[in-house]
Amino acid sequence: QRPILPYDEIGAEKLSLLVDTFYSKVAKHPKLKPIFPDDLTETARKQKQFLTQYLGGPNLYTEEHGHPMLKMRHNPFSITPERAEAWLSCMSEAMDEVGLEGKVRHDLYRRLVLTANHMVNQMSHEE
Ligand code: HEM
Repeated sequence: QRPILPYDEIGAEKLSLLVDTFYSKVAKHPKLKPIFPDDLTETARKQKQFLTQYLGGPNLYTEEHGHPMLKMRHNPFSITPERAEAWLSCMSEAMDEVGLEGKVRHDLYRRLVLTANHMVNQMSHEE
């Protein structure tokens, strides 16, 4: 008997909707828009793969792209504390919109706060 995975609890369909909703917000956010590509199709595809494995589902991201090395992959972009905050606010709004609730939402969000803060590679005044 294995524990119920957050991935199973959320389900692939809702996860996909969450990521699409999230990037529709990123695309409109004044602090995030400038560092993302105009076409977020591929970004969203990779994020679905990544979050699938982050939540305990199949290792889709690693199978196609290798080890995530997220911090390193974010190095080319200026990630300030304000941008981490903006990223998390888009995610929180997206979670509300797709109706992700309860412990599974709380746990995922709390992990994302840690991961987002870890991605910060530049202090605000250096922008
Ligand atoms: C890629 C920004 C946090 C996961 C990217 C890209 C940008 C970016 C600009 C490149 C998009 C592209 O070229 O397609 C940010 C900012 C963050 C943040 C501003 C704020 C802290 C996170 C977090 C996660 C994450 C918390 C994980 C939960 C990814 C993944 C990719 C990515 C999986 C694709 C990497 C690849 O190219 O294979 N991010 N990110 N990011 N980000 Fe973030």
